Amino acid sequence: LDNGVGRTPPMGWNSWNTFYCNINEALIRGMADAMVTSGMRDAGYEYVVVDDCWMASTRDANGNLQGDPTRFPSGMKALGDYIHSKGLKFGIYQAPLDQTCAQYFDSYPGATGSQGHEAQDARQFAAWGVDYLKYDWCSPLGTINEQVTTFAKMRDALAATGRPILYSINSNSLHSKTGPQRDWGDVANIWRTTEDIQLVWNTDQINGYPMGIQNIINVNVPLAAYAEPGGFNDPDMMEVGRGTLTDTEQRSHFAMWAIMAAPLIAGNDIRNMSAATQTILKNPRLIAINQDTLGRQGVQVAGDANQRVLAKRLSNGDVAVALFNQSSATRTVSTTAAAIGKSGASSYTLIDAWSGATTTTGGAISASVPAHGTVVYRVSGGVTGEPQAPPSATLVSVSS
Ligand code: GLA
Repeated sequence: LDNGVGRTPPMGWNSWNTFYCNINEALIRGMADAMVTSGMRDAGYEYVVVDDCWMASTRDANGNLQGDPTRFPSGMKALGDYIHSKGLKFGIYQAPLDQTCAQYFDSYPGATGSQGHEAQDARQFAAWGVDYLKYDWCSPLGTINEQVTTFAKMRDALAATGRPILYSINSNSLHSKTGPQRDWGDVANIWRTTEDIQLVWNTDQINGYPMGIQNIINVNVPLAAYAEPGGFNDPDMMEVGRGTLTDTEQRSHFAMWAIMAAPLIAGNDIRNMSAATQTILKNPRLIAINQDTLGRQGVQVAGDANQRVLAKRLSNGDVAVALFNQSSATRTVSTTAAAIGKSGASSYTLIDAWSGATTTTGGAISASVPAHGTVVYRVSGGVTGEPQAPPSATLVSVSS
C-alpha cells in the first residue's frame, strides 16, 4: 500500500501473545518504558501495539469508541501521548465487524467493532495519535470479495484522516483454512497469512489450529513474490522469549522471520527478558537483513522435507542466505553462490549473522546446522542477479 509508511517491515511489540485481554494502561506504559531501558527501541522496535480488549463495551454519546474506563481511566489519547513521549509509536486493534475477536476468545463484553463507524473511528484513531491499526476479521462468515471491500473501506477512511497510519489486516480466520492466499498489497501494509501462531514448533492441531513455527514457515515461504516496500506478508507476532521453544528453535524463528521480511513484532514480556532472548531479538545483522530497503522476502532456492535454503537480495548488492534444518538431527545444509544469484568473482565473503564471524568461499555455501536450527550468512562480492528460485515455489494450499 502506497501510503508512505511500512516501506520496510514494521518492528514493535504487541500485547496479545503474552497478556491476551489482561491489559491496562499501567502495563502498556511499563512496556513503553521497557522498550527504552531494554534497548529494544534503539535496536529498531518502534510500535507499541495495544491489541484486543482496550475498548469500553459501549460507544459514548456521540458514537465514539472509548477506552475501558476501569483499565484505561486516562483514556487512549493520554496513552498515545505517553508512548510518543518515549520516542515510540502507538498501535491499536479493531475489527471490521460488529464485535472484535475477544467475543470468542475471552467472552469479553467490550468487544465493540468498527462496522458502520469506519470513518468516525478512523478520525478517532487519528485524534488519539494512533500510528498503526491492526484490523482483524474475526468471523467464519464472509466471502473474499466482502473482505476486500470491507478492508478497503478502512484503508480509505485512514487515508482520509491525513495521518500516516500503518495498516495491518488479518483476513486469516477465513482464508488460511480455505485458501487461496491473496496479495493484499493494494489494501494494506501488512496482512496475516496464517491462523494465530502457537507456542509450539510443529503441530497438526492445537486448539483446532495447525500453526506452530514450522507450520507457519511452510505457509509463508511460498508467498514471497507478494512482498514489496509498503506491503509485506505477516506470519504473525513472534513467540521468541516466551518459553517452551528451545533456544535453537527461537533463533530459527527469528532468523526466518527476518529473512522472510516479516513484521518483527515481539510478543514476549519485554520488562524481563533473559540475556538469550535479548541476543536474539536485538541481533543487528538479522534486523538489517529484515529492514533492507529493497523490501524483498527471501525466496526458496532449494528445499525438501529436511531443509530449506532461502535467499534475500539486499539493496547494496549483498544476498542474505538462510540454511534452515527442518529435520530432527544435525545435518549439513548447502547451497552455492550461483544458486543465490551471485556470480563474477573468484571468492565471496560470508558474514555469519549470529556470530559475526567472516569467512570466504570460492562458491560453496554450507554449514552444519543443529536440528531445527538456521544459519544465516550475508554474502558479498561479485555481481548480483536474481536467486534461482525453483518453479515449485508457488502457492501452497493450506488445509486444517
Ligand atoms: C485474533 C488475532 C490475534 C489477536 C486476537 C484478539 O485471533 O489473530 O492476533 O488479535 O484476535 O482477540
